[in-house]
Amino acid sequence: MTALPDLPPHTEAFEPIERASRDELQALQTERLAWTLRHAYTNVPHYRAAFDAAGVRPEDFRELADLARFPFTGKAELRTHYPFGMFAVPRDEIRRIHASSGTTGKPTVVGYTQADLDTWAQLVARSLRAAGVRPGMRLHNAYGYGLFTGGLGLHDGAERLGCAVIPVSGGMTERQVQLIRDFAPDAISVTPSYMLAILDGFRAAGADPRATSLKVGIFGAEPWSEGMRAEIEQAFGMHALDIYGLSEVMGPGVAMECIETKDGLHIWEDHFYPEIIDPQTGAVVAEGEPGELVFTSLTKQAMPVIRYRTRDLTRLLAGTARPMRRMARIGGRSDDMMIVRGVNVFPSQVEELILAIAPLSGHYVIELSREGRLDTMTVRVEARPEAWGMDPAPYGRELTHAIKARIGVTARVEVTAPGSVERSLGKARRVIDRR
Ligand code: DLL
Repeated sequence: MTALPDLPPHTEAFEPIERASRDELQALQTERLAWTLRHAYTNVPHYRAAFDAAGVRPEDFRELADLARFPFTGKAELRTHYPFGMFAVPRDEIRRIHASSGTTGKPTVVGYTQADLDTWAQLVARSLRAAGVRPGMRLHNAYGYGLFTGGLGLHDGAERLGCAVIPVSGGMTERQVQLIRDFAPDAISVTPSYMLAILDGFRAAGADPRATSLKVGIFGAEPWSEGMRAEIEQAFGMHALDIYGLSEVMGPGVAMECIETKDGLHIWEDHFYPEIIDPQTGAVVAEGEPGELVFTSLTKQAMPVIRYRTRDLTRLLAGTARPMRRMARIGGRSDDMMIVRGVNVFPSQVEELILAIAPLSGHYVIELSREGRLDTMTVRVEARPEAWGMDPAPYGRELTHAIKARIGVTARVEVTAPGSVERSLGKARRVIDRR
């Protein structure tokens, strides 16, 4: 194991709110929720109609537990009111529009006022600081620039913190490698799957990834695993930290892991109120139980969201390095869950097993098909370059066995040549469903 670089703990640079007690936080959340419910009800026809249909008024909210009486919001509502129907401020107060493409149909559109953009930059700056990034450092930003919130979100936050941003965006892997070598950034922000493509790029260029200046990576926008963290940390000799967010709620920087503990993501609870619900019944589950993450914005002006169902599955945990609560690493989205012969499977579970087998790399794709009436699952995974040439059959069998033993499904495993699995420039597509 390589020693990872020393980075100053974030505790030295806390904002005052990061030290607030639970009571202080809850008082702030209560006040901000009351404002948000009134703001949404008064200014967004959809929320007025939805609250009326559920028989609740903003005045019915007196304490945090009352939020459970208010209706959920989902992607469907955002699509119905495409493009700007969910905005709560006059058009001339909007300063930025982003959209998330989604897999089918219309994108979901989100808007920001100047104050919303300021909050976003402040929270991304807070996230970066929690990850060990400091003013004066250089950040290589390989999240896509454009309607996707990753590129501009990290960009503004890093500038706010006082970093020099290198706005590379995604793609052109050889150039990514060149710029990392030439500009010597301290930090990188990118999807974990694309970081592996950059790693290939280093090897193809005959360059040592451990010889780079990189000390910390800010990885998110897609599910990833502890196995992948170990892979990246060892390959580059850098810290790999998890950043979470979604465009409907803001963008990156809703929650962030911190360098001191690397034990789940602190939710910036002064701006977002989290709940975990049972995805079937919609009931709020007990603290610590797994379920679907739901967010209500606390300060957003342009597009408040009330009980937005993220489809992301996780649990809430008490704070550690700071009082704000944490969420566990996202195991998957309810819509990415594969049901194979009745067994629920998430790609990240398969990823964890792949990366536990040394000759296999983190480049993989899962194909589902149907033979007769039976589902079949095929995992195509690349061998690591240094293992290619060895007989792949034994480690293919090892993976089949691990998937059967740990997840409970029979999978076919094809170990393929390095470079054969398609690389994504942003979020990786892990599942191809041909059923
Ligand atoms: O992916 C925002 C983002 C950009 C987050 C850069 C982090 C870094 P969307 O395109 O709207 O926004 O996609 C949001 O991506 O609901 C999750 O399913 C997934 N996701 C985001 N971060 C993580 C993470 C951005 N750290 C959707 N772990 C979310 C697992 C994540 N899944």
